[in-house]
Amino acid sequence: MSLASSLLRKSQGSLVDLLESRLRESVFDNRYSLHPRRLAQLGAEQAEPFLRFLDDPTQVDPFAQGQSLAREGLGEKTILAIMSALRLFCHQQLEGETLMLSSSLDATELYTSRTLEGFMSAQEALILKDQEQLRRALSTALENQSRELLVKNHAINTSINGIMLTDLDGKVTWVNSSFLTLWGYAAAEDVIGSRIETFWAGDDARRVLDRLPATGGWRGELAARRKDQSTFSVELSASVIRNEEGRAIGIMTSFVDATERKRLQAQIIQVQKMDALGQLAGGITHDFNNLLTAISGYLQLLLDDVPFDSRMHQDLMQMRAAVDRGTGLTRQLRYFTRQTSGNRQVVSLNEVARETWEILKRTFPPDIAISLALAPSLWTIEADSNQMSQVLVNLCVNARDAMTDAQHPRGGGRLTIETANVELAEERVGRYVTARPGKYVAVRVRDTGIGMSPDLLDRLFVPFVTTKNVRSGTGLGLAVVYGIVTNHQGFIDVQSGVGQGTVFEIFFPMTQRERETRTEEAPPPALVHGHGTILVVDDEQQICEIMSRVLTNCGYVVITAGDGREALSKFGRGHEIDLVILDMMMPGMGGKECLGQLREQDPGVRVLVATGYTSNGSAQELLLEGALGIVEKPLDLKALAEIVQKYVALPRSSS
Ligand SMILES: Nc1ncnc2c1ncn2[C@@H]1O[C@H](COP(=O)(O)OP(=O)(O)OP(=O)(O)O)[C@@H](O)[C@H]1O
Ligand SMILES: [Mg+2]
Repeated sequence: MSLASSLLRKSQGSLVDLLESRLRESVFDNRYSLHPRRLAQLGAEQAEPFLRFLDDPTQVDPFAQGQSLAREGLGEKTILAIMSALRLFCHQQLEGETLMLSSSLDATELYTSRTLEGFMSAQEALILKDQEQLRRALSTALENQSRELLVKNHAINTSINGIMLTDLDGKVTWVNSSFLTLWGYAAAEDVIGSRIETFWAGDDARRVLDRLPATGGWRGELAARRKDQSTFSVELSASVIRNEEGRAIGIMTSFVDATERKRLQAQIIQVQKMDALGQLAGGITHDFNNLLTAISGYLQLLLDDVPFDSRMHQDLMQMRAAVDRGTGLTRQLRYFTRQTSGNRQVVSLNEVARETWEILKRTFPPDIAISLALAPSLWTIEADSNQMSQVLVNLCVNARDAMTDAQHPRGGGRLTIETANVELAEERVGRYVTARPGKYVAVRVRDTGIGMSPDLLDRLFVPFVTTKNVRSGTGLGLAVVYGIVTNHQGFIDVQSGVGQGTVFEIFFPMTQRERETRTEEAPPPALVHGHGTILVVDDEQQICEIMSRVLTNCGYVVITAGDGREALSKFGRGHEIDLVILDMMMPGMGGKECLGQLREQDPGVRVLVATGYTSNGSAQELLLEGALGIVEKPLDLKALAEIVQKYVALPRSSS
């Protein structure tokens, strides 16, 4: 090999290095790549002028040529192709050793230093401009996209619906914070990666999931399981997420807690059911009452005709006892059907509760501790106070029964009567379909008794629903409570579970009206006064004494007698007796006989019959015999003073 050719080879090596390094440094480095074959093709076309120049350098101005190519926006691919063609050309020339070495090298050098430089700077400027535009466009697009993402993210995260994303196998990939709240988890990490079965009771969720790819979506209700394993009902909608090609890549499910809706629905049904029952019972009670009145009237006639000691008389008395019981039932049903509005006044439930408590603590078995927790400055309500105490008594008697029931493990327990001022906001009122937000007075009766099953709770206020035997319960107690409370625009909440005791909470709307008589903390009202002489006949000395004390305080002169005989003798002894209060049940001469004899002595005698409610039936009988009214035992002193004052001055009947 000649010196010239080895020199050329060396120079060719350095020329190639130079070109390659320029290309590497250049801006289009790494940005494009082209298949060498295509390069060669391109190069062959575009390198043509250059090759011509190499053939005859005087014909072409390489610099101008390069400049114009660059201006025309000669593609960098072309430049690459030229370079590669150049290499090929040099190689071929060297192989043939026909090239004028120096002129070739000069030309190449010249071309690269001028043409390529020129081209490069023009191209660089173009690329920079392009890049700047691209960068701006990209950054605006990115900014928009990230803003959109942020908004969507916020919406999904703060949605009150729980949202869960899973893969197709049912493994959780993402959840929002409502999901965590609903299911009782603290952080998404506790949930992500778990299988969906963790969050559902039963295998319905799995079945839905398995069918989803085929069905595409599903809406419905399922029983969910919280972290603490408690279950609740959710409404959900699940759908398959698909990619651009339509392939299923995951599942999105959104949930709402259905517990509240279901509860409200149940409540509405309950209210409607009770209304329907009320109407039905109303109709029956009315007719039934008329029937009973007729039966009892004819019974009375029969009783008058039949000898007192006959067998038939006894049978008729049995019949009358049954009729009396029927009358009692219809009276109770009337409360349920809300036919009795009663006497509404401004009432403090604290007073009613205290009075009830006084009675109960004396009559309840000693193993039941009764406590009273009265709210100070309790608001007042507009109510019939007798009906209020009936509500409380019915609830307390039930509580007592629940604590003395044979099924109760220990027997005994604690009964608490509480009162409270309660302001119900919209969200709490939502729990009671018939309630409006506002101020309420609440009274709660708690017991530690046997509690109730959900099934019993559902039917609790329905008349004649009872778990007690025929003798001890008719199942009307709570129906009466329901009727009275609803009639007072109140509502009832019951919490109970088997073995967990029971809380009845009753809300009455507070009233703004002032009390007509006294404020709660004021001393008891003065009893109504009157004058006249009153004969109190009762075999119980204590009763005689109480009545005597009260009536003396009210301004009357009081004479007492321990039985019928003594009464007759005192009545006839020249005392001017204005009114007799006569006990029904006395040993020896009873009330009935005594009344008869009194009327014989003085047909215009004014007599009130004192009776407990058990013997109501026979008191009615005495009214027929000419007694003016009934004094109910246990004594309500205020009522006693009122009824005495009413009858003591009544014109005497001459019959
Ligand atoms: N505090 C309570 N604890 C447990 N069970 C109760 C309670 N209150 C009521 N119940 C249940 O509800 C049923 C219905 O009560 P309701 O007062 O209406 O009727 P009753 O007590 O059976 O009969 P009545 O009150 O007419 O004498 C009761 O039989 C009892 O099973
Ligand atoms: Mg009861």
